[in-house]
Amino acid sequence: MTDIPTAEARPAADPETAAKGDRVLIFDTTLRDGEQSPGATMSHAEKLEIAEMLDDMGVDIIEAGFPIASEGDFNAVSEIARRSRSATICGLARANLKDIDRCWEAVKHARSPRIHTFIGTSPLHRAIPNLDQDQMAERIHETVTHARNLCDNVQWSPMDATRTEWDYLCRVVEIAIKAGATTINVPDTVGYTAPVESAELIRRLIEVVPGAEDVVFATHCHNDLGLATANSLAAVAGGARQVECTINGLGERAGNTALEEIVMALKVRSDIMPWTTGVDSRKIMGISRRVATVSGFPVQFNKAIVGKNAFAHESGIHQDGMLKNAETFEIMRPEDVGLTATSLVMGKHSGRAALRAKLKELGFELADNQLADLFVRFKALADRKKEVYDEDLLALVQQGEDVE
Ligand code: KIV
Ligand code: ZN
Repeated sequence: MTDIPTAEARPAADPETAAKGDRVLIFDTTLRDGEQSPGATMSHAEKLEIAEMLDDMGVDIIEAGFPIASEGDFNAVSEIARRSRSATICGLARANLKDIDRCWEAVKHARSPRIHTFIGTSPLHRAIPNLDQDQMAERIHETVTHARNLCDNVQWSPMDATRTEWDYLCRVVEIAIKAGATTINVPDTVGYTAPVESAELIRRLIEVVPGAEDVVFATHCHNDLGLATANSLAAVAGGARQVECTINGLGERAGNTALEEIVMALKVRSDIMPWTTGVDSRKIMGISRRVATVSGFPVQFNKAIVGKNAFAHESGIHQDGMLKNAETFEIMRPEDVGLTATSLVMGKHSGRAALRAKLKELGFELADNQLADLFVRFKALADRKKEVYDEDLLALVQQGEDVE
């Protein structure tokens, strides 16, 4: 191969590169990787709205799109860049000069722009452009250098890093750092890795690659085995200080790491995971609902943090426990994710204590014998219906009064 010149060491140009220590940067890619989900296309106005919500909630970097992909993507990224307030605005570009130029044209309007360029480095991915290891190494050097000549803030990703040969991965990461990348993202593109590996991979890269201490390492996990959040947190334990994620875990196939899971896991278990984010968790529920609506991807009922049932209780034992002390069955306060209250769902598993509490909420305080009678009729109804709504309870109370 031809010698790849070593670029001069450049000073870290962006405060984000100071993300060492306890602070984890949140990089949201709902508008890029999330939108790549088949059927999740969002309109221009919807993208601007989601970007504004992400900026408002304290996301550090917003990957706003893939500017070369279409005129629409280019326009959305440019407009998001123009309107950005605190977040860094990033665009994606393949490893060629045309993509990178187009990306820069879109993100350059931001107060803090970033170019994110990538190439698939695993044997399977190298076979697609038919590049051997040396040719690909040269391409990486050339494209990262070009991006860095345009923008002080450059992220580079070896796509399918977790299936790339270890020695080659170290080599290309070193080339990207020397060419001026300020963030090295290590994608688990097909959701193949496991938490112990994920932590070890980042830890060893930081340990052995020259210059690693001058850049931020990022983790980008897909959820094919349901391990995206676990793998991302493990990567943070290994030294990653940027987590790439999407709202509701939206993304190709089984999706990406869910932003809300990372933010809340770090908040709730700060005792064993002492890293913080800048995200205001109280804004989670609002953006989750909005992304579900605009993407057309409803949130599964039992989805962690944002599912309809995440703060709902039906069984008698759980409801009774919740009425006595919410911590019995909840590890987070609903207010912390933007909900007003826990919901006690009335159904066939509900007990007398919950029924009494629900009726009180509806304005009825029944004597013990009245409650006993109503409880029998409530159970009979609950056996026929999945959920007993407030109107059903009001009708049951009314029936009782008519009999008296
Ligand atoms: O999953 C992936 O590898 C990606 C890259 C473009 C970073 O989304
Ligand atoms: Zn991805």
